Amino acid sequence: MAGALKIGFSSFSAPENGVLAVFAGPDLKFGPGTRALLAPAADLIARAAAADGFKGKSGSALDLIAPAGLKVSRLIVIGVGADKPDDAVKLGGSTFGRAPATASEIAIMAEFPDGPLSPDQAADLALGAVLRSYSFDRYKTKKKDGDDAPKQRRLTIGTAVPDKARKAYGSREAIAEGVLIARDLVNEPANVLYPEEFARRAATLKKVGVQVDILDKKALTRLKMNALLGVGQGSIRESRVVVMRWNGGKKGAKPLAFIGKGVCFDTGGISIKPAAGMEDMKGDMAGAACVVGLMHTLASRKAKVNAVGAIGLVENMPDGNAQRPGDIVTSMSGQTIEIINTDAEGRLVLADVLWYVGKTYKPEFMVDLATLTGAIIVSLGQEYAGLFSNNDKLAERLVEAGKLSGERVWRMPLGPEYDKQIDSKFADMKNTGGRNGGAITAAQFLQRFVDKTPWAHLDIAGTGMGSPQSDINKSWASGFGVRLLDRLVADSYEK
Ligand code: BES
Ligand code: MN
Ligand code: ZN
Repeated sequence: MAGALKIGFSSFSAPENGVLAVFAGPDLKFGPGTRALLAPAADLIARAAAADGFKGKSGSALDLIAPAGLKVSRLIVIGVGADKPDDAVKLGGSTFGRAPATASEIAIMAEFPDGPLSPDQAADLALGAVLRSYSFDRYKTKKKDGDDAPKQRRLTIGTAVPDKARKAYGSREAIAEGVLIARDLVNEPANVLYPEEFARRAATLKKVGVQVDILDKKALTRLKMNALLGVGQGSIRESRVVVMRWNGGKKGAKPLAFIGKGVCFDTGGISIKPAAGMEDMKGDMAGAACVVGLMHTLASRKAKVNAVGAIGLVENMPDGNAQRPGDIVTSMSGQTIEIINTDAEGRLVLADVLWYVGKTYKPEFMVDLATLTGAIIVSLGQEYAGLFSNNDKLAERLVEAGKLSGERVWRMPLGPEYDKQIDSKFADMKNTGGRNGGAITAAQFLQRFVDKTPWAHLDIAGTGMGSPQSDINKSWASGFGVRLLDRLVADSYEK
């Protein structure tokens, strides 16, 4: 988890026997700090660039091993074209990724050809590198041949303003930890991470000042969360709901609420899923993982807001006691639900948690995250999460936060025509609306449990796990949502 990469900030300097990464533009143009640092090897670099046809184009790099005149073991010159960086987090990730895995000392100079990066951008480079450096290898007991990667790696960001950059890194460190916490939870297998264990891990947030309450089966029964309990009744693992609270805002100010689907494993239940790929359903708690990571981030950086995080933790199993298609359950809201397909379980879990949070905390808004439908992957692939909302302002803010964080969301429609699809012959509603518009009818179902509260639903089935590897993530789990929602909070609710 967090900690394998140590971050430092210093003035421009080259690490002895370490890897030095610098940015260059067209015609091998360097910023002044970088140029001074590389002066002893200027001729060598120019000759190597000419020999390799390196022109400083964005995306290209020149790799020099043990360059004469410098004390570094390797110099990596990274082309950035003529532009300023538009996404320093991504750049930090891709730059760090160019250093060999065996390097223990790495330095990146936070300077572009036409000038220094801002303290925020320098800190973003470090954030990107930390996200990139993550790997989940807890269960690898054998080293691969030639695998002599150091246990502890150090990254130094060179800048003319190390104190300012270090300060800017404070909130990024909290974000990095939150993302890595979420990734760890999603990568963890379901024999280890079942509802009770998930709840225990969420409870470790007490260390950073989050209040954590665990509702056990008895408490959930008393609250009449029968939609949620119905999903878990086929499992020998008991269901849990965890409520996390961070009070960094004004006393009495309405909290922001974040709700996560935490299906620790989704077999589909009696409507069992096909075998191929079912192992991925250990990640069906990515929404809940994001909420835990986010609460960690908000508390660690002492965000000036009141926030509630609530997660519904269940395991969806087929069993003699499992819920059947045709069963009718009465949700906490009093609305009845006919179960058509036991594999449409996430919405049943969220129905009760949304209702509970809405009525108990009367939040400013509710945002839920869920690996809810395969249909959203058909719609948007793995590039955007699906966004559904009853509130244009909230939706716009989420879209904007998505653009700025790189965790993009695409708004999808809601409407009475879709809502009709989930009317039931026998109960107030049914839990599936047929093949057409599957992600939308799932969202319509959730909307029946949010009343008038401003609400947004993020379907992260495509983005939370198994997403394509990127500059800032080489792991199966992405931790999607932590950076997006931290950004939403920071930009729209702390000012
Ligand atoms: N957890 C799944 C959705 C999912 C699929 C997440 C693939 C990540 C990757 C969800 O519980 C589910 O099974 N949804 C069904 C709903 C259907 C039965 C109406 C689906 O999408 O097929
Ligand atoms: Mn399912
Ligand atoms: Zn599911």
